[in-house]
Amino acid sequence: MAFPKSVRLVEVGARDGLQNEPEPVSTATKLELIDRLGAAGLRHIEAASFVSPKWVPQMADHREVMAGLKRRNGVVYSALTPNLKGLEAALECGADEVAVFGAASESFSQKNINCSVAESMERFAPVLERAKEAKVRVRGYVSCVLGCPYEGEIAPAKVAEVAGALFEMGCYEVSLGDTIGTGTPLKAKRMLDAVARDVPIERLGAHFHDTYGQALANLYAVLEEGIGVIDSSVAGLGGCPYAKGASGNVASEDVIYLLNGLGIESGIDLDALAATGDWITRTIGRPNRSKVGVALFAK
Ligand code: HMG
Ligand code: MG
Repeated sequence: MAFPKSVRLVEVGARDGLQNEPEPVSTATKLELIDRLGAAGLRHIEAASFVSPKWVPQMADHREVMAGLKRRNGVVYSALTPNLKGLEAALECGADEVAVFGAASESFSQKNINCSVAESMERFAPVLERAKEAKVRVRGYVSCVLGCPYEGEIAPAKVAEVAGALFEMGCYEVSLGDTIGTGTPLKAKRMLDAVARDVPIERLGAHFHDTYGQALANLYAVLEEGIGVIDSSVAGLGGCPYAKGASGNVASEDVIYLLNGLGIESGIDLDALAATGDWITRTIGRPNRSKVGVALFAK
């Protein structure tokens, strides 16, 4: 299959990125980050996570973030909602879109959301129903699609089963998460081939972490298969607090540089994005994990 003509980026830095910071980042900094990302051309920004503050204290200000956004026309501001409680709060605060998050690994599901994969589907069903009533779209995530921190190898058939269930339930898109970044390109391709038998490829997204430095290679492989949605995080911020050793998502700047080189449109201003990556890493005192971002600022 040929490369897509354009790719939609889902910017997850303010959520997946900042959920993993040792110290919570101030609400004002989060809001400024989200605003700068919108100014750089991002059109889908995951802004917050309506999860338990006991589980993820870094996301405890979800209401203030979602309600305090300086909204830009044409930008979708979304939030994670693991259950009805989270969904109701996200709707009250004006989330444009929400996401449920499951896993292809039983152990990861237990550690991350305190229930089995089957129980998570039972929890998500009423979230999907209520969101539909509220006319809010729901995205689905599947974690551990290329490996699990507790179980190791994950069968592509299991990923396909969970992704298919989320799609059947009404998720408009399913994002496939290499949570711990252990995947390699052929493995990513094989996993995608298995999932694409159950979910149309245009309804799938790639959410790759860069722990082992493979994320761009994996993205190239799935772009070749026709993936048109990529999740990424400015400056490569982040990781998952329930997956030891998971480093950040692939850096948004690096993805845009790759897409520009391949002649694939994204509508994003690389210089403005790199400036945002430079600003946020200086502000929170973290290393900039975007090679492109660092190179542009070293000039
Ligand atoms: P639980 O303890 O089983 O839930 O947690 P519960 O229903 O028994 O409730 C326990 C307490 O939590 C109660 O409070 C509830 O009110 C509260 P208490 O009475 O003890 O004071 N609670 C909530 N508070 C706020 N918002 C809510 C909510 N729900 C219950 N929505 C739960 C279950 C799912 C809530 C918990 O396990 C949790 O919050 N987990 C979050 C895990 C998380 O955020 N992980 C990171 C995101 S996933 C990820 O990063 C992967 C991804 O990027 C893709 C990839 O890379 O693979 C998406
Ligand atoms: Mg993630």
